[in-house]
Amino acid sequence: MAEVKTPFRNAYLVNQPDLVKTALVDRPDDFPKAEVIRRTLYDLLGDSVFVTNGELWKRQRRMIDPAFGGGRLKEVFPAILDAAETCVARLGPLADGRKVEMEFETSHAAADVIFQTLFSEPINTDDAQAVFHAFRRYQRTAPVLSILDIMNAPGWIPRPGRKQARAEGRAIKALLRTYVDRRATQIADGTAPDDLATKIMQTTDPVTGDRFDANEMLDQVAIFFLAGHETSASALAWTLYLLANDPHAQERVAAEVQSALGDRRPEFSDLKRLSFTRNVFREALRLYPPVPMMVRETTLPEHFRNRDLAKSSMYILSPWHLHRHERIWPKPDQFDPDRWYRPEEKGPQTDAYMPFSAGPRVCTGAGFAMLEGVLLLSLIIRSYRFTPVEGEVPAPVTQLTVRSETGIWLSVQRRDGVIPPLPE
Ligand code: HEM
Repeated sequence: MAEVKTPFRNAYLVNQPDLVKTALVDRPDDFPKAEVIRRTLYDLLGDSVFVTNGELWKRQRRMIDPAFGGGRLKEVFPAILDAAETCVARLGPLADGRKVEMEFETSHAAADVIFQTLFSEPINTDDAQAVFHAFRRYQRTAPVLSILDIMNAPGWIPRPGRKQARAEGRAIKALLRTYVDRRATQIADGTAPDDLATKIMQTTDPVTGDRFDANEMLDQVAIFFLAGHETSASALAWTLYLLANDPHAQERVAAEVQSALGDRRPEFSDLKRLSFTRNVFREALRLYPPVPMMVRETTLPEHFRNRDLAKSSMYILSPWHLHRHERIWPKPDQFDPDRWYRPEEKGPQTDAYMPFSAGPRVCTGAGFAMLEGVLLLSLIIRSYRFTPVEGEVPAPVTQLTVRSETGIWLSVQRRDGVIPPLPE
């Protein structure tokens, strides 16, 4: 556990699995989300489920969770498949060996997935394009927290980029409002499609009996876009980078997909036959967890590892550090998808792997994201081969998620298979 003492408050970086479990699983109410996260992201996220605590957060989860329950994954599968096939088709004209910035491509695909599953709309409409590009600008201007926030330094000390990020956040919100208002009208007149937005807006809280009003729903839509596409885009881009640098693993994915699917359209039941592809994605989430740190706050005085932690200390959990911990993982920095088959590595996989967090605040979209990641990866690798570009070694930086400072540039080459046309 690393301690940072500051004039305003102390921060603790917690890398010990049982202390991580204390905050996330055993006593989550005593370690709420740090208030500074809510303040920093307020213009975009308002009081969305990602930033709230206590009773308000519990109520929001009760209304959101049913939309992501087990059976629903099968229902969103066709929409995710559409977005995946569109991504494969979009890469077609670029796949002649030239270098392509893959973060842009995976962001486009992941945003399409969210539009299709949440609002039954493809990303190529003008409104959707406006939202997508506004999120791109937001992502570049908005580091979640600066060190000044972690220290709780006074608000008058300027945070670089914050003003611009706030303006972008408000602009995105205005764009998303059109979608929520339109959907409210469709629900009222009985023409709403059966998608995630409709499901969430029509779910009644079993405890209070109420539903989200339009403003609350808008906050939730903002987090679905942000949490749902930034993360998946980051994960997929880093996965392709890792595969580009491990041709053997890349060909194993291609062979697995060929044997499971051949050239046909996948079905939901095919996913269980893509175990190596899934392990590649898992391993990429270990090495490049899109959410590299999670910031909690102590609400009581604590005593851990011979240190007294004052109330209101920052309690920082870092998947990045935990996933690469030398005393926990064998060869932690090595990309080794086969480790997920080894029984002797079960310990760290259970105790020191948390790309989706853990406990009651675990990512709502974890199952959705695994489905999306494996499906997109398998279809992309079935059609294309990726190789590194000389001189383009991505340097990871924390923006909203773990991104490369200068993008992830890879050379893309068509395989022999048929590239499907854009779905209608
Ligand atoms: C690879 C993709 C993804 C990763 C790695 C990821 C990771 C995470 C993590 C680590 C958290 C907890 C953050 C914290 O407690 O500070 C989280 C929360 C959340 N995620 Fe994801 N996520 C992914 C995809 C998605 C998707 C696709 C959706 C929805 C469509 C989603 C929706 C959410 C929401 C709503 C929360 C807030 C949950 C709460 O606080 O109760 N995520 N995610």
